[in-house]
Amino acid sequence: MTEQALSIEERIAEKALRIENLIKEYLPGKEGYHKVLLESMEYSVLAGGKRLRPMLMEETYHLCGGKGKIVEPFMAAMEMIHTYSLVHDDLPAMDNDEYRRGKKTTWAVYGDGMAVLCGDALLNYAFETAMGAFDSCVCEDVPMVERYRMVAEALKVLAAKAGVHGMIGGQTADVEAEKAQEVTEEQLTFIYEHKTADLIEASMMIGAILAGADEGTIENLKKCAYNIGIAFQIQDDILDIEGKQEVLGKPIGSDEKNHKQTYVSIHGIQKSKEMVRKLSDEALQILRETNGDSTFLEELTGYLIRREK
Ligand code: IPE
Ligand code: IPE
Ligand code: MG
Ligand code: MG
Ligand code: MG
Repeated sequence: MTEQALSIEERIAEKALRIENLIKEYLPGKEGYHKVLLESMEYSVLAGGKRLRPMLMEETYHLCGGKGKIVEPFMAAMEMIHTYSLVHDDLPAMDNDEYRRGKKTTWAVYGDGMAVLCGDALLNYAFETAMGAFDSCVCEDVPMVERYRMVAEALKVLAAKAGVHGMIGGQTADVEAEKAQEVTEEQLTFIYEHKTADLIEASMMIGAILAGADEGTIENLKKCAYNIGIAFQIQDDILDIEGKQEVLGKPIGSDEKNHKQTYVSIHGIQKSKEMVRKLSDEALQILRETNGDSTFLEELTGYLIRREK
């Protein structure tokens, strides 16, 4: 079948499968006295999942003219960091959820202690993996000094966006907000920006950086990713109410159970849906204005508005 004959859902599924196979190659072997840790890492990463972040990274890399394989270790690293954030997010001490990606959560299978270690391991192994791009022999057409500069820049973005003022900071504010009677609009924005948008921004920025894009383009794509990221979290909150567990692969009602105030609980479903659309339209506008073929990224952004998982 030709590319055109496939629906966007089918093309996304095809790409996700290819990304999953790629990530598999980067996971550590499963031998030694710490075998259980290595197994828990594989269990968590290969449980399924949309692979949205590596997909956005690779597509942005191509949009900006990247042709080699230097992006691949970073794609695997990004999915490891994202998966670690979910493994910890599901812990009894955090959201206390027992299902994720259609399977029992890591702590429910391996116990809390091993789930903590599994998250630690995925975070560290992500950086071990991404640093493999320094000695990449898959990027011969780029002079070594330039390659080192790009990889160092990409590592800086990855570390900062996953870090204390990034995703971890957002998760912290999210946990803190559970105790509050009322969450301000400013607090809510901080939470969404950091717990979710930061890794999505990092994904698109790293794709652009590794393709050698100029600063203006990187900045525009960062803004685009910000919009996609906030819209993505609002949609996640909508699905936490309106979704179906069999499709979503994780429990419905997790936010209410945890007394979590979300964009949806504050503004209602209708306004939330309008917001998802508005943010996505802004993202689409930026994509259209970017030099290069952004057709797939545009379709992917459109699909995310109506996603059911
Ligand atoms: C879930 O992310 C956590 C949020 C930031 C909302 P995804 O919805 O991308 O989870 P997977 O990777 O597809 O399981
Ligand atoms: C989690 O937000 C975001 C991160 C893990 C960084 P949620 O707690 O809403 O994610 P889900 O709904 O459990 O996937
Ligand atoms: Mg959470
Ligand atoms: Mg959660
Ligand atoms: Mg959620």
